[in-house]
Amino acid sequence: MKKKHKLNKKKIILVSFVIFIVLVLCVGGYIFYDSKRLKVKLVNDRLVNINDEVYNIDYIKSVKNGTIISDKELVDTSVLGKKKIKIKIKNYFDKIKDYVCEIEVVDKQEPSIEYSDKLSTTVGTEINLLEGVKVTDNSNEDIEVTIEGEYDFNKEGTYELYYVAKDSSGNTSKEKFILEVVKKKEVAKNISNDSTKYFTTSKGFRGYTKNGITYIDGVLVVNKTYSIPSTYYTGDLTSETRSNMNNMFADAASIGLNIYLSSGFRSYNTQKSLYNNYVSYDGKELADTYSARPGHSEHQTGLAFDVNQIDDTFIGTPEAIWLSDNCWRYGFILRYPSGKTNETGYKYESWHFRYVGTELAKKLYNDGDWITLESYFGITSTYGD
Ligand code: DAL
Ligand code: ZN
Repeated sequence: MKKKHKLNKKKIILVSFVIFIVLVLCVGGYIFYDSKRLKVKLVNDRLVNINDEVYNIDYIKSVKNGTIISDKELVDTSVLGKKKIKIKIKNYFDKIKDYVCEIEVVDKQEPSIEYSDKLSTTVGTEINLLEGVKVTDNSNEDIEVTIEGEYDFNKEGTYELYYVAKDSSGNTSKEKFILEVVKKKEVAKNISNDSTKYFTTSKGFRGYTKNGITYIDGVLVVNKTYSIPSTYYTGDLTSETRSNMNNMFADAASIGLNIYLSSGFRSYNTQKSLYNNYVSYDGKELADTYSARPGHSEHQTGLAFDVNQIDDTFIGTPEAIWLSDNCWRYGFILRYPSGKTNETGYKYESWHFRYVGTELAKKLYNDGDWITLESYFGITSTYGD
């Protein structure tokens, strides 16, 4: 009896020991496995604006016990909605796993409205207030444009109204404009002709055209798309342009370079005869590659000038090289850089400089890899015909 009891006790100890060993192995195994388990943390903000430039692996905040195998790739963000990104990650045990991360493409940007800030009509004559209004958005959503405010075509008055543009995501923009309703008799003298046309460029810069002159982000822009009125006349380079140009010439002279002004301000008529001469020599198509049509030359602004020899023999001279490297310090840009004809509309002009101020000039200089005004603002330079 005593012997049997002793045997049972031994058995219990043995079983308990086995259980203990199994438990130790299990817990140990789990701790080991957990310490080597792949742990991936994603960035919290996975909402991305439509057409934004984002990369697949940018959504991985950290990887523990693994390595990202996928290459850095641009994610297509051109369509609104949820999107799954697959990223290959190799874990501690050399197994490659597809890690799926969900992002959502949304539209956070409000539409931009191209509009005139003043419209006029006579009492009793309705006009379409939406005519000439152009709304653009970064997404392909429907955009609803409405007019906010009270007005009456049958009652003389000056009405302060708003264009309201709303896209399907609910982003709204609102722009103020004036509607003048005047008495028939007063038409000739009263209807104002001084409306300003506002627009936003494809790179999001705000611009406006007033009295035929276009400013984008405060910069007077003249190229094949944007003209300047024939009456615009400064008579000379602007004082800021001239003093900065003189400083630049003086600094160049101090290191033995000979830079001089060849062509500064040109009136509409001067540009007209210059351009017409080129057309008679070379024909219109060729002339358009190097000479601006009257009304389209920066020389008419008093902000641009040509230096030294105005032809390709100037390319590569110490003066041309120094100017290209240093003009930005004086607020000038090399306006028509090499290889940028499709942006500026003109062939390379190593001799033509344009004043834009040092802040913008430095950006466009771009450490020697010139960015054109057209590319920076997101505008074209083409004639309408
Ligand atoms: N040569 C430049 C484009 C001008 O005529 O203004
Ligand atoms: Zn020029």
